[in-house]
Parts: sequence; structure tokens; C-alpha cells
Amino acid sequence: MKMNRRLILWSGLAIALASCSTSNSGSTSAGGDTANAIPIGIGVAQTSNVALLGQEQVAGARIAEKYFNDKGGINGTPIKLVFQDTAGDEAGAINAFQTLITQNKVVGIVGPTLSQQAFGASPIADRAKVPVIGPSNTAKGIPQIGEFVSRVSAPVSVVAPNSVAAALKLNPNIKKVAVFFAQNDAFSKSETEIFQQTVKDRKLDLVTIQKFQTTDTDFQTQATAALNLKPDLVIISGLAADGGNLVRQLRELGYQGLIIGGNGLNTSNIFPVCKQLCDGLLIAQAYNPEQPGEVNKAFREAYVAQYKKQPPQFSAQAFAGVQVFVEALQALDKPTKVAQQPLPDLRVALNQQLLKGKYNTPLGEISFTPAGEINQKEFYVAQIKMNPDGGDGKFTFLK
Ligand code: ALA
Repeated sequence: MKMNRRLILWSGLAIALASCSTSNSGSTSAGGDTANAIPIGIGVAQTSNVALLGQEQVAGARIAEKYFNDKGGINGTPIKLVFQDTAGDEAGAINAFQTLITQNKVVGIVGPTLSQQAFGASPIADRAKVPVIGPSNTAKGIPQIGEFVSRVSAPVSVVAPNSVAAALKLNPNIKKVAVFFAQNDAFSKSETEIFQQTVKDRKLDLVTIQKFQTTDTDFQTQATAALNLKPDLVIISGLAADGGNLVRQLRELGYQGLIIGGNGLNTSNIFPVCKQLCDGLLIAQAYNPEQPGEVNKAFREAYVAQYKKQPPQFSAQAFAGVQVFVEALQALDKPTKVAQQPLPDLRVALNQQLLKGKYNTPLGEISFTPAGEINQKEFYVAQIKMNPDGGDGKFTFLK
């Protein structure tokens, strides 16, 4: 671990405390002496089914906090992450954002987990002139919520078509495609539009569009209706718990063709849901653990040391969200210490600054359009390989 000597001298205690995390929701992950630390809000799902995604975001954010504080924080002043649990719905996200803005007085927020939640909560931050970086919101229209809303999660239009291309490479004989989507989820509705358009663009036959709810657990009706049409490819836009169950039930009903899962299924937390039947699932990726940059190497090593597996996309994106705030704060801090700037002014300046920068993140080099959309260069597709006993598995990146 590389420590900044000057920082250790004057605030070694704060840094040591900032490095030890607590898992309590609504707490900071720094300990007692955080008076000087610069608070960055993390508003993601720590409870509910959406925590299948959100817990990976917490992991990535905590690794970023330690990594940047070990390197000296904001030119000698540490950051501290303040976590507020959004749970899985809009009301939870709105509460978490309001607490972060008014009580925790954060400089900016990384969150929420779902696009569905972002459309409810991010306008509140926008009106309060608090910068929000979406770490995983991939629906169309997120940066357009307002001037203070950007994202490090590439949109469905950029990510989703890659998995269809990969499926066709694995099986050039695909003709009939069945599409499923969660109709109560903004991201799933947005993603399925892209999938459906891609299917048409590729001159494939879209044989059925089946709808479900993210709260559903029984998909027999929709799965049977789709399989009666003998598709050679199934594409699912949903979230982790529902999506994993749908994959399992399609296989149990005898479907043997390829399945594409969308971004909401992009977590090893679906493994306990579909077990051995997750095997072969294709999912497009906005992150590759093999990304060759220095920051990714440090991120990957920290993640592997703690979790004994390769880091997932949701963790890498959350790390990138924290990194953008840290590096924008470092730039702002040079003329006038950020700790001395009035909070409302600092939040506005931080938003302007972060949109200007270039960041070498675990996702590769990223920057933003003036509207706050991410510019990212590299995308991938992975296929899930389960162990024969179905107890564990991994994402294998396709060439
Ligand atoms: N990418 C998913 C969303 O935007 C998690 O809701």
C-alpha cells in the first residue's frame, strides 16, 4: 500500500479510520474523526432484491475510497463516503437522496442503482444543484434529467447490441427470436427497445414479445407461450432476481438455445437463482477485469484480495463514479481549498469541473459529453460458465 507521507503526518488517524468500513446503512464508512474529510454520497440499494446489484456497487465504492485516500485524497484532505440505502424503489431513492443532500451535506452523489429510481430521485438532486453521477443507470434519457445529472454507465443503445452480435457469432443459424421484458421497470423497457430494434436490423424474426414484472417469480405462462414458437434465441431485459428465475424456468421447460441477459442480470448474484441453468447465458459488459490500465490493476487486485473473484461491472462503475468526483475535486482544490468553499458554490463548480475532465478509470479512459453522457471506448461480451454442481460459476469474456 502506498501512503502519502504528508497526509500521514497531519491526519493519519482520519485516514486510518476512513479506511475501515462499516456496513451499516446510513453511516459513513469513515470512523470518528471525519471532521476534515470531504463527504461524497453513495445512494444505492443495500437492501431489497435490487441489493443483488447494489451490494456490488458498495464494494466498488469502498475500494475507491481506500484507494484514493491512500494516495492522499483531495491534495491531502481525505474523502469520506456517506452511504444511504435507497432500497429498491423510487421512494427509497428519493429519501436517501434528500438525506444525503440536506443532512449529510455531501458534495455530490453516486447513485441510484436503477434507472427507475433515477427518474424519481435524480431530479431532486438536480433542483438542489447537487451533482449526481449515475453508476449503473443505463436507460435512455438519464443525463437529460438535468444539468446536474451525468453517468458512468454506458447506455443501453451502446451496450446491448454487442450481445446480439456475439450470439450470432456463436450460432449463425439463429432466425427466430423471443424477447422478454419487465414492463414495470424503466431500464428494462428502454433496453428491450434496443434489443428489438437490433433484432430487426439484423433481419431476424421477432416471433414474440413477452412481458413480466420485476416482482414476478412464476414465468410459466410467458415462457410456455414463447417456447411454443420454437425460438433459437431468447433475450431478457429484467433485473437479477426475476431475470435469473426466468432463465431457470426457460431451461426447466426444455429450451436449449442461446439466452441473452441484459444489464440487469449482469451479476454473479444470479448464480444462486438459476444455478447450473445459468450456464451459457450471454451478457454484454461495459467492463473487463483485464483492462490494462494502472488504476484497474490496483482496483482488480484490491477486489480479488477481498472477494476472491474477478471484479464485476457494477463494482467497476461505482469505483469510476467515486473517481470522477475525486479527480474533479482535486482539480478544483488547486486554486482554493475545496473545504473552504461554500457548499452550494462547491457543488455547482464540481458539476462543471467533472464534465470537463478525462479519467483513466477501471473502465478505461472516460469523459463526458456536455450533457453528462459517458464517452467510453471499449465494450465486451461475457458468457457464464457454471461449475457442474451449479454452486458457483464465472463470467468468461468472449474474444
Ligand atoms: N442498468 C440497470 C438500470 O439502469 C440496472 O436500471
